[in-house]
Amino acid sequence: MSTLWSGRFDQAPDAAAFEWGSSFSFDRRLFEDDVTGSIAWSRGLERAGVITAAEGTAIRTALQEILDAGRANPAFVDGADEDVHSFVERLLVQRLGDTGKRLHTGRSRNEQVSLDLRLYLRRRIPALQEAVAAIIAALTRQARAAGDALMPSYTHFRPAQPVLVAHFLLAHAAPLRRDFERLSTARHEAGALTLGSGAIAGTSYAVDVESIATDLGFDRVVANSIDASSDRDFAASFLFACSLTMVHLSRLAEDLIILCGDEHRFFEFSDALSTGSSMMPQKKNPDPLELVRGKTGRAVGDLVALLTTMKGIPSGYNKDLQEDKHVVFDAEDTLAGCTAVVRSVIDGLSLNRARAEAAASGLLLATDVADYLVGKGVPFRSAHEIVGALVRKLIAEQREFASLSLDEWRAASPRFEADVVSRVTPGASVAAKQTPQSTAPDAVRRAIEESEAWAARVASDAGR
Ligand code: ARG
Repeated sequence: MSTLWSGRFDQAPDAAAFEWGSSFSFDRRLFEDDVTGSIAWSRGLERAGVITAAEGTAIRTALQEILDAGRANPAFVDGADEDVHSFVERLLVQRLGDTGKRLHTGRSRNEQVSLDLRLYLRRRIPALQEAVAAIIAALTRQARAAGDALMPSYTHFRPAQPVLVAHFLLAHAAPLRRDFERLSTARHEAGALTLGSGAIAGTSYAVDVESIATDLGFDRVVANSIDASSDRDFAASFLFACSLTMVHLSRLAEDLIILCGDEHRFFEFSDALSTGSSMMPQKKNPDPLELVRGKTGRAVGDLVALLTTMKGIPSGYNKDLQEDKHVVFDAEDTLAGCTAVVRSVIDGLSLNRARAEAAASGLLLATDVADYLVGKGVPFRSAHEIVGALVRKLIAEQREFASLSLDEWRAASPRFEADVVSRVTPGASVAAKQTPQSTAPDAVRRAIEESEAWAARVASDAGR
């Protein structure tokens, strides 16, 4: 095998150690980005007068051919090379001889690999964002379809207050909206050009790095060449964005696993996204969502792995950083797979309105009873105590508010009047809410409209 650095050594590399330390088996995924970066670098060298216009053109033509060949046939991107950078350079030299050998002038693989990963993330993050947006759109469609259906909300996983089913569904869209933004931020962070940093100290050729940045769609150049050679903050930001998105998908999965379970059955999974048991004929298992929940550990692990790699290295490039690609690719694949399946599960979800609404009634109306008394002039703390005592009585007698006669209400407090019966229902409870972020039907309708408009905007931006 030939390397980019064999001139320095008397002995050929130890074959097993070389093979073990080489990254081509996994960094071949950066092939397209490596070529893109090299095309931009050749322009920089040409503008600086380091190579002639003819050499620049020859290099770019050959690089484009290499790129086309690799795109047409992924098996083309293969060989005993140490890494993808060595592979591209080997092919270029095969085609152009000495002219090909000029491309690496003033450049190092240290800045090159960082650039490649930055280009890769900038190219790939939008697809992840689209997948997240597709889940948001699916949740919004289900929210609209749920109409005025009610269900209980939970705190401490105990029934808390009635809410609209739509409000619950949008509660899972909200964190995903933040994730969408976090992915944008990670994409922006990746958009700083490392070329011009050399191996660590900068480059001795008068290359106009600003124009290379512009050529590559970057809006800035890194601030410091030493920092640039080992900065993987952008990758860590990406991994954090992926991890937190996975955490949110995991919580959505957990909610649905419970609420589709036999004890709740507020929702039902489509058969197509459920699995059976080899032994128990009755089982309908939510394997896809369990896997999403399980894979969240993996995405968080990817983030922790990179942070742990980063924490120990002295300044400047160190080979430890080669590990960055494993975790970035793994997190990307994990999130891509999970977003696709979650979207299908949401699309296939059906609402069991009767079950959900039945569970939205009962003692979880206690706060509304207290609010009723507040409306009659009772201080809230006193109202809380009165209703607390009433709840104790109802629990002891295994009854609910709806079964109370007016005399019984009035025994609890003389402030109760006949209208209490109509005021203490799940529907009245949600209708009484006043704030824009609440489950009030008007507020939820506006939230659905806002979410639909957002999803349409994102879809049209993606189409552009
Ligand atoms: N395969 C290496 C990586 O992924 C490329 C950079 C190599 N640089 C070096 N000085 N050995 O980090």
